[in-house]
Amino acid sequence: MRRSVALVATTLLAGRGVQALPVTPTENRYPVPSYCAFTESKFLPFNNAGNENWKDAPTLSITVNGRPLVATMDTGSTGIVIDAKYGFNNTYLEKNCEIGHVFYTSSHWLQEGYWCTTDVDVGGVLTSALALIRTREVCCPTFKEGDRCQNPEKACVCKGTCTTTVEQGILERNILEKDDGNGARIEARQTPTVGKAYMGIGFARGNPPSHNLFMNVKSIDGVPAGSKFRTGYVITSSGVWLGITKANTAGFSAVKLNLREGNADGRDWGEPPCYVQVNGGDWTNGTFLADTGIPNAYVKGDIPNKEGNEIAIRIPDPTSPFGEVQFVSVPKSKAGTVGTENPMQPTWVGIRTVPGVNTGRRFYNGYDLYFDGDGGYFGLRKKSN
Ligand SMILES: *[C@@H]1O[C@H](CO)[C@@H](O)[C@H](O)[C@H]1NC(C)=O
Ligand SMILES: *[C@@H]1O[C@H](CO)[C@@H](O)[C@H](O)[C@H]1NC(C)=O
Repeated sequence: MRRSVALVATTLLAGRGVQALPVTPTENRYPVPSYCAFTESKFLPFNNAGNENWKDAPTLSITVNGRPLVATMDTGSTGIVIDAKYGFNNTYLEKNCEIGHVFYTSSHWLQEGYWCTTDVDVGGVLTSALALIRTREVCCPTFKEGDRCQNPEKACVCKGTCTTTVEQGILERNILEKDDGNGARIEARQTPTVGKAYMGIGFARGNPPSHNLFMNVKSIDGVPAGSKFRTGYVITSSGVWLGITKANTAGFSAVKLNLREGNADGRDWGEPPCYVQVNGGDWTNGTFLADTGIPNAYVKGDIPNKEGNEIAIRIPDPTSPFGEVQFVSVPKSKAGTVGTENPMQPTWVGIRTVPGVNTGRRFYNGYDLYFDGDGGYFGLRKKSN
């Protein structure tokens, strides 16, 4: 049963004062900025277009050093790890890049390599970001700066092989926050296997914009990104637009974002606001994430992982939201069995450590999402079907 959303008609205060001008019913309290000046963009279809109603994470074809790879597009992390075997030699890495590593504290996998500003072609869009070019991967439960597990231990927390269980989203370098029930994300994040890469394009996810390929577009189909290009993206069920325009944000509402505390630069935006209500109680404020990397959700509080509680989310505020989601809580042990008639129902719901919600990717069955990376706006557009 998909609960129908009963929108309470709000009283329009404008009708009260004598001098107040009438408010047209179509007036949007959260209009998108005027993007008339921006016309450069490109639509990149997902490889798994349609995506079976967002059952799986979306993937895009990318090219690194002339080699084609399939990249998972993840809004829940920022940054990309690429195997050095895809066209990087030691001479080049030692000369041009900085030795570095990524250590996943919850799974104990250590990825060693080089931080390297790397060109990536995403379907004709040439972009460049600070990537970790991985030269070694080792299970390292005793990891310290002085102990890099030269003699790797077999006893790791993680199960299976190194290529299937690493959490990709949280990089030790530049960690600014950790949230969302880390344990579960180990399973959700996949490390690059042969021919694959994991491409985190989210914002407010730890790493600054310099790590984000979608924040550093250089050219589109060979034409350098100029003054008519506005950094940002629009995520739909069939693909993603790179470059914000008036046309591809038509029908959206948007909220202005604040820079993150301790922001790395003037485009290091924080998460959008939302309000969460459990079982018809008070609305509590927090931050919102619609994470394409996971099918489940995380909600702050101790209720979400018990079965059958009703969770409602409104973005950006409870009285005049432009985005609204309702689903029921499902423990992990019953993943995928409760509330399945609701296209926005996450497979299960875990406990988020920070206030607010990570809806997971089923959210995109109800809304398209856009992010203006230059101006710091976040918007949603309800799907018409
Ligand atoms: C190493 O890579 C660089 C950059 O791709 C290339 O110019 C150079 O020829 C390569 N060197 C060797 C020894 O393969
Ligand atoms: C929630 O609201 C309080 C009070 O206005 C504010 O201080 C706090 O920053 C808000 N929290 C979030 C996560 O937006």
